[in-house]
Amino acid sequence: MSASLEKIERLRVVPALVVDDVNSAVPLAAALVKGGLPCAEVTLRTEASMEVLRRMAKVEGLLVGAGTVTSVEQLEAALEAGADFIVSPGLDDDLIRRCQKSDVLIIPGAVTPTEVMRAQNLGIGLVKFFPCHAFGGLPTLDALAGPFPMMHFLPTGGINPTNMSRFLAHSNVTACGGTWMARREWIKGGAWDHVEAACRETQTLLIKPSEGGGAAGGFRKGG
Ligand code: 3PG
Repeated sequence: MSASLEKIERLRVVPALVVDDVNSAVPLAAALVKGGLPCAEVTLRTEASMEVLRRMAKVEGLLVGAGTVTSVEQLEAALEAGADFIVSPGLDDDLIRRCQKSDVLIIPGAVTPTEVMRAQNLGIGLVKFFPCHAFGGLPTLDALAGPFPMMHFLPTGGINPTNMSRFLAHSNVTACGGTWMARREWIKGGAWDHVEAACRETQTLLIKPSEGGGAAGGFRKGG
């Protein structure tokens, strides 16, 4: 199993970040580390995002992934900037093969049986179930786990402190992703104490794999 996957499995949450200003990168990283959630998916949705990724990747002890990766060009730039793992909203063979070639963890998006099956056949063991709420949430996840008992999921999109535990209790859920611990407006306003406090609060709600959550061990390469 990759070191990135191991860490995600242990933390059980992946903060998804939308960062507008490169100068937010280091203090935001510090707030995540101080709050006890030293992991980030830097979504490539703003002009600043690639430089934010580069700066955050240099922060000691922080696992940094690139999110919203939709093309091989973006993927190459993210790897060059120091991304530890890659997240994509969809399923793309070229992105998956490129990551597998370099033994980099990729978590592609998959929400339908066809997509999950395709991911599985490409050697992926963990997919981003996004947008989770819009695609039916837990009942859909549960239904997908039937034919795909080996597949693990990172539900993202509509996860919050109120519903997170229910997802984490599912045996096929490795971790939850979302923006609730580092809201865009907090980042814009430099409210690092809010980020730190939300990270801490999130940890009080966590269900560890030993308590019933989905252990993602035994993934094949690239998954
Ligand atoms: C993502 O890109 O992963 C989502 O925008 C996060 O969704 P959320 O804002 O509902 O947590």
